[in-house]
Amino acid sequence: MTLWSGRFTTSMDATLWNLSESYSFDHVLYHHDIMGTKAHVGGLQRSGLLSEGELEEILAALDQIEAEFDRGVFVRSGSDEDIHMAIERRATELAGDVGAKIHTSRSRNDQVATTLRLFTRDALVEVAGATLDLVRALQEAGEKSPGAYLPGYTHLQRAQPVLLTHHLSAHAWSLLRDVDRLMDNRDRMNVSPLGAGALAGTSLPIQPATTAGLLGFKEPFANSMDAVSDRDFVAETLFDIAMIGIHLSRMGEELVLWTSAEFNFATLGDDFTTGSSMLPQKKNSDVAELARGKSGRFVGNLTGLLVTLKGLPLSYNRDLQEDKEPLFDSLRNVVLVLAALSGAYRSLTFHVASAEEAANDPFLVAIDIAEKLVEEGVPFRRAHEEVGKLVAEAVSTGVSLRDVVAASERYARFIELFEIGAALRQRRSPGGSGPVPAIEQAQRLHGVIEQLTKRLRDESAS
Ligand code: ARG
Repeated sequence: MTLWSGRFTTSMDATLWNLSESYSFDHVLYHHDIMGTKAHVGGLQRSGLLSEGELEEILAALDQIEAEFDRGVFVRSGSDEDIHMAIERRATELAGDVGAKIHTSRSRNDQVATTLRLFTRDALVEVAGATLDLVRALQEAGEKSPGAYLPGYTHLQRAQPVLLTHHLSAHAWSLLRDVDRLMDNRDRMNVSPLGAGALAGTSLPIQPATTAGLLGFKEPFANSMDAVSDRDFVAETLFDIAMIGIHLSRMGEELVLWTSAEFNFATLGDDFTTGSSMLPQKKNSDVAELARGKSGRFVGNLTGLLVTLKGLPLSYNRDLQEDKEPLFDSLRNVVLVLAALSGAYRSLTFHVASAEEAANDPFLVAIDIAEKLVEEGVPFRRAHEEVGKLVAEAVSTGVSLRDVVAASERYARFIELFEIGAALRQRRSPGGSGPVPAIEQAQRLHGVIEQLTKRLRDESAS
């Protein structure tokens, strides 16, 4: 018998039950549902709808249920449609008659919205923490090869030499924006829907502000219909994860390239690579490929939920039950990828000689010659044209750009630009890749990491 069987004459058909039940995936919400229910009954007692003794009995039953879940011995009854009904049913078994008062002035609509917010609020901190750890892993990977450089690319064509730390920090900045976005989302979603009832509130004397306070929410909902139908926070979380996933995918693609024989810029540790079942020599960067591959499901989960939400009339509709599986899936997988990729970067050996050799390609000095001409008063577009002609000569004759410059009277004075690392050393514009701006960037990066680490600590503690 379900908890709402009063107005029905027959039980639910098995096919509808199989479609409708969500316990099979929403049982992971047990801790946050119990948390929400404890605050709810605390609110009922403060409003005079439960006595002190009744509250104690219910709280003791809820503690026992939580312990049963923690120990993995909670037994689902055949009529438990979802985690919310399972907990209320069991609390009523344990607490007796008073259990029948638990759901006073509450609907599963405000209950599930509350539970899912509490769950997501914690999960965002976990994702943010794992993202920050990847930022640290990137920094550590750079610190292992101080001063190392590699070609920077545009269009995957060698463009200008860049410091390894500069390159890895570019990824770190994108991940720091992700952490910031997760925490902004957390702040925005920190509003309690508890007390909205089915959709319109209740005639009973409850105070949503009280339960909001008990649950550490910033404030209670302002509009009960919005409270039960709003899943913006799930969509935002899925977007935040999709964005992280896109960043991780780009990093994964880069690691695949770097660890190929063709690039030979890096190898991953044996503990972060896989072999081939057939080809004995293979050492594959599967971790990077999975980081790239998982982005598809993150985008899919976001897209799926947005389509589910589109066109729903106010207020609660059962379609909203479809919010959970994509959310759980994205949360679980993004944490898996973040952890494995952090380990992969920590295991990375950067092949300094090979990367620097590629970056010492004389063509990469072309822009520096043009900029020297600019310093001497030549308008940039003319300087570009002049150096372009030198490049064309090098290409057509097969003589290196360095030797073409050395052999020409007009340009021979620029020959020292071809000294190893010279172009990089001279680069000084703020935020650019040279040793001088690198100091300022490192300080800024450090500052943002500190600030976000503190924000994470403070907000998860409050
Ligand atoms: N399992 C449901 C969900 O995830 C709970 C809410 C059901 N509410 C209802 N009125 N049928 O949305």
